[in-house]
Amino acid sequence: MILALETSCDETAAACLAVDGRLLSSVVASQAGLHARYGGVVPEVASRRHLELVVPVVREALERAGAGLDAVETVAVTQGPGLIGALLVGLSAAKALAWSRRLPLVPVDHLHGHVASLFIGPEPAEPPLVCLLASGGHTMLLDVPEPSSYRVLGTTLDDAAGEAFDKGARLLGLGYPGGPALDRLAQRGDPDAYRFPVARVPGLDFSFSGVKTALMYAVRDLPAGELERRRADLAASYQRAIVRALVERALAAAGGAGAARLAVVGGVAANSELRARLAGTGAILTPLELCTDNAAMIASAARYTRGIPYPDYLGIDAYASLS
Ligand SMILES: Nc1ncnc2c1ncn2[C@@H]1O[C@H](COP(=O)(O)OP(=O)(O)OP(=O)(O)O)[C@@H](O)[C@H]1O
Ligand SMILES: [Mg+2]
Repeated sequence: MILALETSCDETAAACLAVDGRLLSSVVASQAGLHARYGGVVPEVASRRHLELVVPVVREALERAGAGLDAVETVAVTQGPGLIGALLVGLSAAKALAWSRRLPLVPVDHLHGHVASLFIGPEPAEPPLVCLLASGGHTMLLDVPEPSSYRVLGTTLDDAAGEAFDKGARLLGLGYPGGPALDRLAQRGDPDAYRFPVARVPGLDFSFSGVKTALMYAVRDLPAGELERRRADLAASYQRAIVRALVERALAAAGGAGAARLAVVGGVAANSELRARLAGTGAILTPLELCTDNAAMIASAARYTRGIPYPDYLGIDAYASLS
């Protein structure tokens, strides 16, 4: 059994996965409520909360799997990218667990984790795939030739799609985390009420800073007292623009291979309009509960990542960014 930990941002998560890919348990403790009053994640606050939560969350993951530590054969953990202090809590806990039981440790790339959310469960996706990864910190098109690797085909030149959702939600006064709130509000609005264009940059890259600015001007130019009445229309039109850009580029990247080889992962893959737009195309949508950060996907990635034998991993470090 693989025991995995994920603490790269504001979710403290642990999961148990059988070596054949069956998910035995997945526990996610979100800190969203803690950061809401600041309008975003405060790194130092996140690290301290991870410290408090990591042991209870691991304990609960083992309990739900009906297993003890003696059933764990491999420990996996997110090494980066993410908030460095937050990552260090998970990495230190994972090292301690692995070292104390003389187990190997698998350091996992968080983005590979999002991709590997596709390989869990009774019907795992089968590469080769073109994968749209749209999350809070990244928006990329990836070529996934096999479960163990990916190559970046295109990436955002400025904001990530999730970031655009969060910032748009903030402009509309929806609080944090904004993506799900904007999604809910948009369901009551008219997506054609406003025309928010999204920049078409060359190749397979994305850009979302322009659409965010367009929303900012639309909100600013509203007559006093009108925001409340137009909020749902603004949300629906804004969401439509982002989703259209994502779907257009993703289908272009899938190209000749067709949508049947297209897969979508990351927090924004939970968006209802994105899922509806791709529903009939044959594209693979990662299960809702595996879209935002979780440790099940980290355990899944660990099945395809070389582990480090005991005790050689004690010196490894976390990394904040891909470069
Ligand atoms: N239904 C939704 N519609 C739109 N966006 C959503 C929805 N649900 C979640 N999101 C967005 O997904 C993002 C969180 O996703 P995820 O947890 O994968 O990102 P992250 O781990 O913070 O970033 P990264 O994986 O790039 O390091 C947030 O920006 C959130 O607003
Ligand atoms: Mg993530």
